[in-house]
Amino acid sequence: MSTQTLDSPGSPVATGRDDRKTAESIKTGLKPFKDARITTSFKFAREVLRSSVMRQASSVADEVDMSKPDEISFFFLHGDEHKKRRASVAPYFTPKAIVDRYIPLMHATMDRQIAEFQKTGRAKLDDISLELASDVTMEIVGLTNSDRKALTRRVKTIMEANDSFDKRPFYRFMHDKVFGWYHNALRMWRVMDLWKNDIVPAMEARRKEPRNDVMSYMVQNNYSQKGMIIEVLTYAGAGVSTTREFMIMAAWHLRDNPALAERFLTGNEEDQFAIIEEILRIEPIAGFLYRKPDEDMTGTSEGTIPKGQLIGIDIRGINSDTSVVGEHPFEIDPDRARRQKVAGAWGSFGDGPHRCPGAQVALHETRVYLDRLLRVPGYKMINDPTLKWSMSTQGYELRDAIITCDKV
Ligand code: HEM
Repeated sequence: MSTQTLDSPGSPVATGRDDRKTAESIKTGLKPFKDARITTSFKFAREVLRSSVMRQASSVADEVDMSKPDEISFFFLHGDEHKKRRASVAPYFTPKAIVDRYIPLMHATMDRQIAEFQKTGRAKLDDISLELASDVTMEIVGLTNSDRKALTRRVKTIMEANDSFDKRPFYRFMHDKVFGWYHNALRMWRVMDLWKNDIVPAMEARRKEPRNDVMSYMVQNNYSQKGMIIEVLTYAGAGVSTTREFMIMAAWHLRDNPALAERFLTGNEEDQFAIIEEILRIEPIAGFLYRKPDEDMTGTSEGTIPKGQLIGIDIRGINSDTSVVGEHPFEIDPDRARRQKVAGAWGSFGDGPHRCPGAQVALHETRVYLDRLLRVPGYKMINDPTLKWSMSTQGYELRDAIITCDKV
């Protein structure tokens, strides 16, 4: 079966300005899985993501051995096992944890980054966003007993060895098939480095004194080495790769839209979040979410979905479904969510049981990052970042945007 598209029935046609930085490159940049029935309907996507008969269905979901739940990334867990794991992480994502622990940490990281930036008068946006995303995520995970900068470097190199960040079929063939053994070995070697230098010291510290983090939970529940590594890499992928890229995208939009930047800098927190969520709506990080029902799903707004039918949720599509977002779907309009009476994140963090637990953390991080950087005297972003598409996160990757400021 070929890929089919389900557009939201009866939606008005998109009109108006197109503010998306990814508008051109998305046409060729990201291809959904073959045989997936793709939907751009916000309503149907919600039904699918909230359904109890739907299971994760990514490129690797069918290959996961479900017999050892402690050795499975919780992306792939289902039902009670998934509920139990989500309940265990809920305390790390409360508003209180964000205010008491992560926001002070975000400012401490930005203090260090901005001091270095002002010393040289020049920096890369993606270096600063990586440091910030990594520091916050590793605090949640509990990898806090080794050198932070070295840990960030190790996480970065593991993520780089994970994927061919390029869409050219020949490159992917060379990377994945011809040199696949080399990349796997390299990745394994780097993962063992992370185990030895970061995970073991964190584990030993929490054996003596548990804290409120993922590592303490894993120690108390006797996770194996494999289970711990999988969990740490799940967070590295879910919390670092995503937020790192989005922060750069938001900075890029604010550079090219001075009125929006002005509104951001003079607005209150609520207004700043509305701007950030609206940029995320048109430039979501995750491209597609995949699900497959383990029995027929009846009574949906698209009729019955037969057991085993792969559904691909096109997040860009559902975030611009005019029946929900209103007219001019590709224009940035921070008042849109309030006017349409829909939560500002739209579909960018998913929905249902797997909805992103780190959504609020990511929004706060982005707010602090932009608010601190844009207020540095003489701040200027002097070139556009390069834009590539990642096959593993199904999202964009932005590199080498240079910023300058007055030297002090
Ligand atoms: C802009 C930043 C982020 C975006 C756009 C994002 C997006 C998403 C989306 C769309 C999902 C749902 C996946 C699915 O249903 O298949 C998800 C899940 C998840 N996210 Fe995020 N995320 C972000 C930041 C974070 C952060 C900062 C953390 C943690 C520190 C995090 C941790 C997770 C985890 C652990 C899951 C899996 C949840 C589950 O399967 O139950 N994310 N994220």
